[in-house]
Amino acid sequence: MTLSARFDLSGRVALVTGAAQGLGRAMSLALAEAGADILAVDRNTAGAEQTAEEIARLGRRVIVAGCDVSSPDDIERLFARLDAEFGRIDVLGNVAGDGILARPEDITLAQVRQVLDNLVVGRFVCCQQAGRRMLAAGRGSIINIGSLASLAALGRGHIAYSMAMGAVVQMTRELSTEWSSQGVRVNAILPAQIVNPSLEARMTADPQLRATYLRGIPLGRLGQPDDIRGVSVFLASDASAWITGALIPLDGGNLALNGGGTVRVDCEGEGAAAKLVFTFLPPERGALPPAAQEPVLAE
Ligand SMILES: NC(=O)c1ccc[n+]([C@@H]2O[C@H](COP(=O)([O-])OP(=O)(O)OC[C@H]3O[C@@H](n4cnc5c(N)ncnc54)[C@H](O)[C@@H]3O)[C@@H](O)[C@H]2O)c1
Repeated sequence: MTLSARFDLSGRVALVTGAAQGLGRAMSLALAEAGADILAVDRNTAGAEQTAEEIARLGRRVIVAGCDVSSPDDIERLFARLDAEFGRIDVLGNVAGDGILARPEDITLAQVRQVLDNLVVGRFVCCQQAGRRMLAAGRGSIINIGSLASLAALGRGHIAYSMAMGAVVQMTRELSTEWSSQGVRVNAILPAQIVNPSLEARMTADPQLRATYLRGIPLGRLGQPDDIRGVSVFLASDASAWITGALIPLDGGNLALNGGGTVRVDCEGEGAAAKLVFTFLPPERGALPPAAQEPVLAE
């Protein structure tokens, strides 16, 4: 098989939730560009229609379906529609679902349950529905969207979101373990801060927040939705045929960076003219114990 054939999704069908904007839209367009037909799913059907227009321009078949992923009944109807329209599913992009920010001491149980319904139960029911069909066909790729909050704490009111995203990685590992021997691969992408309307609103409300984020991103910029395109096609396609149960950071290096790491951001100038300057410091040899400053032969 040629390298380009490994990435080719021609003849495959992908169901992507959250397709109206952001990561789900970018994933839908990337999978379509690689050849897949798309079931574009969102509770915002007007937005999903706009994504669908772009997919149709690529020459792929695309259907829009309204669905609230926090409703298992909605998801059951969605998959009945998938069966009727496409009769197969090769790729599930499990993207939709948002959180609620509140302090741990204040958040209500109703809010916690709402976040779990959105991000855990919703992702699981989509996996279960897709998984049943993929197991019957003996092939399929599921891509779950987790977060930095799947592996590390964020603070700033992310308690319910983090609990949910932690569950998404264990869901991914368990499903991969149960299903991969039958041809169904299950992986997760863990994004850091990727610009979307709610992130923009939070950064506008707290002018320090952008710099706080950037201090943790050695690559020196926030993510953009298009950053998910390459890894989506890779995980959906035969290019990743021996990869399952993987948690892939999409984070500009954030998870690799310890809090005591050496990326530094300084602000030069003020107001609208202010710009952030990144300095990558050399290892501080003086901070090491003396013996460790000498070259050491590896064994
Ligand atoms: N953007 C980031 O920085 C970031 C980082 C880590 C994880 N994530 C996760 O990635 C996913 C997508 O993020 P995004 O940045 O594209 O967000 P976004 O807000 O730009 O888009 C989310 C889309 O999902 C849809 N949606 C939300 N809840 C839904 C529901 N219950 N049913 C159906 N549709 C629903 C919205 O209508 C919207 O079109 C989310 O689960 C988010 O938590 C995002």
